[in-house]
Amino acid sequence: MPPRRHQHQQQPPRVYVTRKLPGDALQTLAKSCQVTLNSRPEPPTRKELLKNVRGKDAILCMLSDRIDAQVMDAAGPSLKIISSYSTGFEHIDVAEATRRGIYVTYTSDILAEATADLTFALLLACARNVVQGDRMVREGRWKVGWTPDLLLGQQVHGSTIGIIGLGRIGTAVARRAGGFGMRILYYSRNRNEKAEAETGATYSDLDGLLAQSDFVSIHTSMNDASRHMINRSSLRKMKKTAYLINTARGAIVDERDLALALEEGWIAGAGLDVFEKEPLPKASPLVRMEKNVVLLPHIGSASRQTREKMAQAAVKSILDVLVVGGGRGEPEPAFCVNQIRRR
Ligand code: DGY
Repeated sequence: MPPRRHQHQQQPPRVYVTRKLPGDALQTLAKSCQVTLNSRPEPPTRKELLKNVRGKDAILCMLSDRIDAQVMDAAGPSLKIISSYSTGFEHIDVAEATRRGIYVTYTSDILAEATADLTFALLLACARNVVQGDRMVREGRWKVGWTPDLLLGQQVHGSTIGIIGLGRIGTAVARRAGGFGMRILYYSRNRNEKAEAETGATYSDLDGLLAQSDFVSIHTSMNDASRHMINRSSLRKMKKTAYLINTARGAIVDERDLALALEEGWIAGAGLDVFEKEPLPKASPLVRMEKNVVLLPHIGSASRQTREKMAQAAVKSILDVLVVGGGRGEPEPAFCVNQIRRR
């Protein structure tokens, strides 16, 4: 079906989409907009990004695309909305977009339950040597059948989890921890009394949480205050038997300090879905640590259901601004990160 004519423009609104998305959200978008899609599996190069945003009304980007003043300049004055297919939006210069009257939207907490599931997958994999066991069986190293002390791990039930950041994802993790009979501590910039009441989580200062937890799980957002929040000094405060789980953002942890802590046995292990540099370079010392580190390729939100909902939300924000609102900013899109004065 040809794109529907835009109410206030000769041409349908133009949208650059930086990656293919699961589900049929892009088909919905194409019904009312002229879509330029990077259909390769890799993100667009910087050069491609700058070229393809030219003259667009909207950019639908991923967390791997840096959207800064240069990109906004390249897009030009037609750009009205940057819709990110992500919960984090630290890859977008929001202040610059706001100054230019461009909406920035994200996919909010849609991923909370999926990310909490994966957090527990990592926690259990670390605690109970799941990945090591799988390799042992496949590689024919399981020689003597059932063995009293084969791959002894850490008991999860009855242990203590320390959750850093008790927002929607942290709370979803706390709910699961309750099901595992864990004692739940949390540290956050602000107390979350509602989540405390729901999950039985107890507030602690960061040092207290690090010292008492068997599993420290990170669920805070990435910003200047949280960058390298977990570093040499914090890792030194953790129990030698404890595991660090990170499904938030790589740069919250100083990876060099973490590698040292793992090499020298300051902590027992780590389960990581996110890294300072993604994809994780093969030369990273973490790659060599097969016994005490479980590594995943940033798939916290990667359930079909969640990723499809994220795609629908990212598309809806664009349609709200360009089609429903006729580009005038009424109604304001859902999941808007910045406040734009209506034009
Ligand atoms: C996000 O959306 O910020 C996640 O890290 C990936 O889905």
